[in-house]
Amino acid sequence: MARATGNRNNGHTDMFITLEGIEGAGKTTQLKNIVAILEVKGYECVTSREPGGTAIGAQIRRILLDPQNSAMDAGTELLLYMADRVQHIRSFIKPHLSAGRTVLCDRFFDATLVYQGYARGLDKELIRTLHRLVCDDLQPDLTLLFDLAPEVGLARAWLQINNGGRTGLETRFEQEQLVFHRKVRDGYLDLANREPARFRIIDAGRDEASVTRAVEKVLLSFLNERNGPNQL
Ligand code: TMP
Repeated sequence: MARATGNRNNGHTDMFITLEGIEGAGKTTQLKNIVAILEVKGYECVTSREPGGTAIGAQIRRILLDPQNSAMDAGTELLLYMADRVQHIRSFIKPHLSAGRTVLCDRFFDATLVYQGYARGLDKELIRTLHRLVCDDLQPDLTLLFDLAPEVGLARAWLQINNGGRTGLETRFEQEQLVFHRKVRDGYLDLANREPARFRIIDAGRDEASVTRAVEKVLLSFLNERNGPNQL
């Protein structure tokens, strides 16, 4: 999944952008649009995802998302996500940031806080402590939260799975009850309210073209704030 794009950087410094949201929020489609917007501005981008952004992570992803693993303990789940992330940060994210690139990642640490903390009920402070201890407390510069009603998101996700757009072997979370996905959504909104400087909320319940326009607007205003109006 991880891939490098573009070959220029026009003097831009490193940037770490994450995309978050419930299932079916359209993050993966928007990731491609964001790369296109940034590359026009001269940013050299690499994209990745969690879990599964590295070869070792891909093996961890299979265990995490396999619906046959419904007996997985929440603690096991937490530590597997953290293991995937340590590998990803050390072997992919940090080397690219050090080289001055923009790293765009489909899910990151907020997903652990929300899915394992808010939704599974594990101690959020413990999760933050683990992130500090093993992930060097790496924080994104910008997090785009694609927000929509869980009913709509889940229906979209199942449509994709049934149309073969995504492997049916990766449905452990889609099989969770609606109440679980409501906790995930509320958790994300709570995090966004607590950290307004880092989060931007995008209404992902609209058609794809409207979401793309909203993403572009948010991204350009973020770059404007970060670099000044003449140096997007
Ligand atoms: P994906 O469908 O966006 O690839 O994400 C895989 C699933 O893993 C999704 O249901 C969210 C879940 N997840 C967690 O529970 N904790 C995490 O830390 C991450 C990154 C994802």
